[in-house]
Amino acid sequence: MALDEFVAELDQLAEEAADSFSLASDASMLEDLRVQILGAKSGQLKSAQKGLGKMPPADKPLAGKHFNQTKQRIEEAYALAQGRLDSASSTQDASCFDATEPGSRPRIGHLHPITQTVQELKDIFGRLGFSVAEGPEIEDERHNFDALNIDRSHPARDPLDNFYLQTACTAAASSKGEGEVSDGRLESPWLLRSQTSTVQIRVMEENPPPIRIVSLGRVYRPDTADATHYPMFHQIEGLLVDTDVTMADLKTVLRIFCSSYLGEEVHVRFRPSFFPFTEPSVEVDMQWGDGWVEMGGAGMVDPNVFRAVGYDPDKVTGFAFGLGVERLCARRFGITDIREFFKNDIRFLDQF
Ligand code: FA5
Repeated sequence: MALDEFVAELDQLAEEAADSFSLASDASMLEDLRVQILGAKSGQLKSAQKGLGKMPPADKPLAGKHFNQTKQRIEEAYALAQGRLDSASSTQDASCFDATEPGSRPRIGHLHPITQTVQELKDIFGRLGFSVAEGPEIEDERHNFDALNIDRSHPARDPLDNFYLQTACTAAASSKGEGEVSDGRLESPWLLRSQTSTVQIRVMEENPPPIRIVSLGRVYRPDTADATHYPMFHQIEGLLVDTDVTMADLKTVLRIFCSSYLGEEVHVRFRPSFFPFTEPSVEVDMQWGDGWVEMGGAGMVDPNVFRAVGYDPDKVTGFAFGLGVERLCARRFGITDIREFFKNDIRFLDQF
């Protein structure tokens, strides 16, 4: 076979292949053409290759080179046709709408279990006549300690038990070598509040008695995280101030609250305790299912707190309580470790 004859045959094959591929109107037609032209066993290109063997030895290198170029041209034409059909099918998918297809269900988010609990607790206390008060999470020492009858030497003010903030003021004082106290800590008037009792003071400073509020929010303590502790957690604070308020009123309100939130079978127990801002003071335990769990503290508002906000302790009495929201929610849902609330594991959160 002459070289020019072989080259002409290959060129014709390449042109016809490109035309055929470009006319293929769907994937199966293109596949038939691919087998017919490029098929490894009996494709047209394979047959044309046989001509190589009949070449005079001197022409073989050139003929071989032309064969490879032709093969590449045909494969490129095939790839081009494949790309054309792929993009046509994806535009078709996007533009066609099948009304009989079932819709895809969007994933709907929901509120975090602690947020849900906060809302539910507000509702329960709302039904008992308590309105909701708010206070800042960054507090001064007056509201977090002084007005709550926690004097300067009280261990609750220890820097190791609080998140004091380094503000521009304290930083400037420190750079001048001022503002240090004896234990070497930087004296700062600002901290992340360690309890929601701060809101008691803010509400009484701004409103005359009678008072009946709850306040729910985040508080911060450098506690090591474990099954019942976290460095950031939520408290619900309650304050009721009026005339002739007694411990019996406090116990009744907490008892009604607990049975509303946890069910009739819950028991509430008071254990004598001490808080600088209540006298007498109690720890509030709840039993629901097995075992007692400490939920918070409570007591009758200390006369010194009334004096600090300008109330006359001879005219008014009141009770206050502060409960841990994570522990309440954990108790209700049988969660044994409050750290679960903050892992952001969707498998856990999806259950609420
Ligand atoms: C107080 O914070 C008082 N302010 C409560 C109070 C209010 C007493 C009004 C009297 C009158 P205590 O430090 O015990 O008290 O905290 C109350 C509750 O918060 C605890 O019983 C617990 O349920 C919860 N709590 C305390 N620390 C943590 C923590 N690190 N992580 C999760 N919950 C906590």
